[in-house]
Amino acid sequence: MRLLNASGCLDALTAPEVARQLDGFVTKTITPLPREGNAPPRIAETAHGMLNAIGLANPGRERFLAETLPRLHELKLPLWISVGGFCAADYAETCAALAGVEAIELNLSCPNVDEAADSAAEIVAACRRATTLPLYAKLSAAHPDLGEVARAVAAAGADGLSLINTLRGMALHPRTLEPVLARGQGGLSGPSLKPVALAAVHTCYAATKLPVVGMGGVVTGQDVVELVACGARDVALGTVLFSDPDAPSRVRAEIASVDLDEVFGTAHEASEVLA
Ligand SMILES: Cc1cc2nc3c(=O)[nH]c(=O)nc-3n(C[C@H](O)[C@H](O)[C@H](O)COP(=O)(O)O)c2cc1C
Repeated sequence: MRLLNASGCLDALTAPEVARQLDGFVTKTITPLPREGNAPPRIAETAHGMLNAIGLANPGRERFLAETLPRLHELKLPLWISVGGFCAADYAETCAALAGVEAIELNLSCPNVDEAADSAAEIVAACRRATTLPLYAKLSAAHPDLGEVARAVAAAGADGLSLINTLRGMALHPRTLEPVLARGQGGLSGPSLKPVALAAVHTCYAATKLPVVGMGGVVTGQDVVELVACGARDVALGTVLFSDPDAPSRVRAEIASVDLDEVFGTAHEASEVLA
């Protein structure tokens, strides 16, 4: 089991000591053109988790390749590049420009941008033609038939799945009842996502048997163990990194005595018994 960060939840260049606790660093999603993202406020704390509407703020592909990526390589960590866009060609062109990295994560699931992306399978197929690097499709748990999407991206050539992204949510000022986020709605993350993440990993592993990076509300070693039981090969830490930058080392210590190979997939055996 590799321990990664969730995309957008760690800047390895400003916090290399956190990144070095991980088995690989996942970048924030890169789009072809630079994006400033949404207007502030774009983060809100709620009693149930964190809301963000960053809107894929990033320097754009050219600057990322010329300036950010060479500096990330200096960390000597396996790099996962998160790729985004608004049509299949956007994704495929970025994939074609990448070499010498561990894997590409296709962000097919950002709730904070307006433009509708092409269908997930079409994007994966275009990227498959553009690169031989491992392709992980990051899917939204909000899809009504997630197993079907997982099967479709597997058939289109995905090597793995990343599950889950944030879910759309909203917070209001208690007195004015106006939305807290300038954009109105944002993506909910943190511990409240864990049951959704467990179900998504369980569903998609059963549907495809592809390697899954499980994420969504992981705080403790027990959360990691449960995702692995549902079928996650690797696990990513997201929102927890904002409040506990030492979470990767802590979580690793919490699972030190657990045989994760033995745990892997056991939640499926249980449901077969019950079925
Ligand atoms: C501030 C913030 C920024 C994020 N940016 C991205 C992003 O650029 N690309 C992406 O695929 N996911 C992004 N995510 C989603 C996370 O990678 C992760 O899927 C989600 O937060 C669930 O995990 P968690 O509950 O452990 O945070 C972002 C999440 C947060 C909180």
